[in-house]
Amino acid sequence: MSDQGSSQGNQYPPDPELAKTANVRPEMKDQGLEEFWDNQAKDKISWFEDYDQVLEWNLPYAKWFVGGKLNACYNAVDRHVENGQGDKVALHVVPDDGPDSDQAHDITFAQLQEQVVTFANGLKKLGVGKGVPVGIYMQMIPQAVVAMLACARLGAPHTVVFGGFSGKAVAERCNDLECKVLITQDQALRGGKSADQKTNADEGLDAGPTTVEKVVVVKRTGADIPMSDRDVYLDDLVDGESGDAESCPCEPMESEDLLFLLYTSGSTGKPKGVVHTTGGYLVGVATTHNLVFDVKDDSVYWCAADIGWITGHSYITYGPLVNGCTSVLYEGVPGYPDKEVWWKIVEKYKVSILYTSPTAIRSHMKWGEEHAQAHDLSSIKILGSVGEPINPEVWEWYREYVGGGKAPIMDTWWQTETGHILITPLPGITTMKPGSAQQPFPGVLPEIRDDEGNKLDVEQTGNLVLTAPWPGMMRGLYKDDERFRETYWSKYSDAYFAGDGAKYDADGDIMLMGRLDDVVNVSGHRLSTFEVESALVEHDDVAEAAVAARKDPDTGQAIVAFVSLKGDKQGTEELEQALREQVAQSIGKLARPATVIFAPDLPKTRSGKIMRRLLKNLAEGEELGDTSTLVDPSVVDEMKKQIDG
Ligand code: PRX
Repeated sequence: MSDQGSSQGNQYPPDPELAKTANVRPEMKDQGLEEFWDNQAKDKISWFEDYDQVLEWNLPYAKWFVGGKLNACYNAVDRHVENGQGDKVALHVVPDDGPDSDQAHDITFAQLQEQVVTFANGLKKLGVGKGVPVGIYMQMIPQAVVAMLACARLGAPHTVVFGGFSGKAVAERCNDLECKVLITQDQALRGGKSADQKTNADEGLDAGPTTVEKVVVVKRTGADIPMSDRDVYLDDLVDGESGDAESCPCEPMESEDLLFLLYTSGSTGKPKGVVHTTGGYLVGVATTHNLVFDVKDDSVYWCAADIGWITGHSYITYGPLVNGCTSVLYEGVPGYPDKEVWWKIVEKYKVSILYTSPTAIRSHMKWGEEHAQAHDLSSIKILGSVGEPINPEVWEWYREYVGGGKAPIMDTWWQTETGHILITPLPGITTMKPGSAQQPFPGVLPEIRDDEGNKLDVEQTGNLVLTAPWPGMMRGLYKDDERFRETYWSKYSDAYFAGDGAKYDADGDIMLMGRLDDVVNVSGHRLSTFEVESALVEHDDVAEAAVAARKDPDTGQAIVAFVSLKGDKQGTEELEQALREQVAQSIGKLARPATVIFAPDLPKTRSGKIMRRLLKNLAEGEELGDTSTLVDPSVVDEMKKQIDG
């Protein structure tokens, strides 16, 4: 656990000018929970049929806006066209080689509608319709957003698999949700390098039985790739299809109909299929996007996340588009084609809201502020941070060099499971303290408790819980009620257990203190030690593996793998590479261990349990404490030698 928050550090009171015009009003916090969300649901969302009940709470399952009918794509696209906003830019599309590329282009809301309708008409021919699940395995290209919206238009639940995950991960997730169709792209293009996305997917699908019957392939690079009878190019699928909205009306969905499933890592077992439904989720993402980032008609918003994660779902696709906001959609990575590309994007499109991860900011900070200073960033009004704790010095840098020394930073705490932002400063209201998310969003009721369930006072670290439901909350784990109850609702009988440590500071602000379980956070990407261990033991030479995280100045946390080998196998450099490759193949490159420590055995207690606390301490280079319960303490000395180098 790391103590990133600081109640002693600098404080930044809200700008009085911003306070006058901010969308969020202080009195919103005084509204009752149902009253607040009811008002927002009416204000932010267009309903085909009104709901007759705001909330039906049957712990741990909530139903929001019961009886209401709506469609996510209608809210994100069609209604803006109907309201005369068809010519407004929905997406400034920035390709991998940056905003000066001749592939950079804009997509208006009317054009977006045409693309979505055409895509949806194509999908219909493959049998996709209401309740027919679809997998999406793509990079940050506009067709990824279009694919999600086309599914939503048809009432087909989607599951997006992060484009950097392995084919095996794609196949597992598609099989779990029983996807009939997978949408992918020929190749990925990132940082100037192409990678075979579609072939990757094939490898996963062909490794065993699959529910996927058809693979739709979007051309990104146009490379000559192997295509089989199962595959169809999007261009061929939609050839001659109409883009006229009436040719494919938006399917009216119940509030509680499944919108998407997103798999995320837990501390044990396979990835969990987090269930998100339509009405509450859309109200939650549209409201938080609007109020946290103070979105105005002329805002230009850029969330530099990936659609493969929840941040991309809520704050690239659904939140901003439902709010009719102009966004930047960026395919690339920080630092390519040069270290200034981000700031060129901000300058060219006059980005007013930038939402990104501490890991990305740390990269920019490392490269030096001169790159940001070489560009006019005066359009920036609000900054956001998400996914991991932001170190106070990184926060200060972000504000100074990106925010012109004045933009407030919204350090937003939330999770795949929560669907939308729950704890965050608010523009024009919160006195900001670098390094923590601080305050509950209106209509959200957190508490910090000890293990016995007592509410904790200031400066005592405990467990973060939520004592009341919120609209975008997960509606369970797909086909696994038992795991849902066990993971989130068994620690306390009356509250959602988030898995994060937290404390109140002297002013009553919430300071997040990091995960309490075996979930690790590498560059804001959520992984479980268990998954990485499972990947490692798939290698023939490995007898046993245990994984811990250490702090890393660039990626927040980094993975350290402790591996014992079979028989007389030796831990060579080649084997280390092979193990890293094994993890890349099984999960994805982002899960590769930064350090591999070979040992004759793993440190175990006499009852045979691996001493994880000790491995954590070893990984962090901390004092090891009591090792007397170990069967063979010399194992630890051997490991320590390797770590100390
Ligand atoms: O530990 C918290 C951390 O990220 C976890 C959720 O990860 P994921 O489901 O992948 O969603 C990430 C994007 C919302 C949380 O349990 N986390 C997220 N935001 C913050 C954070 N930790 C500290 N401060 C944050 N602002």
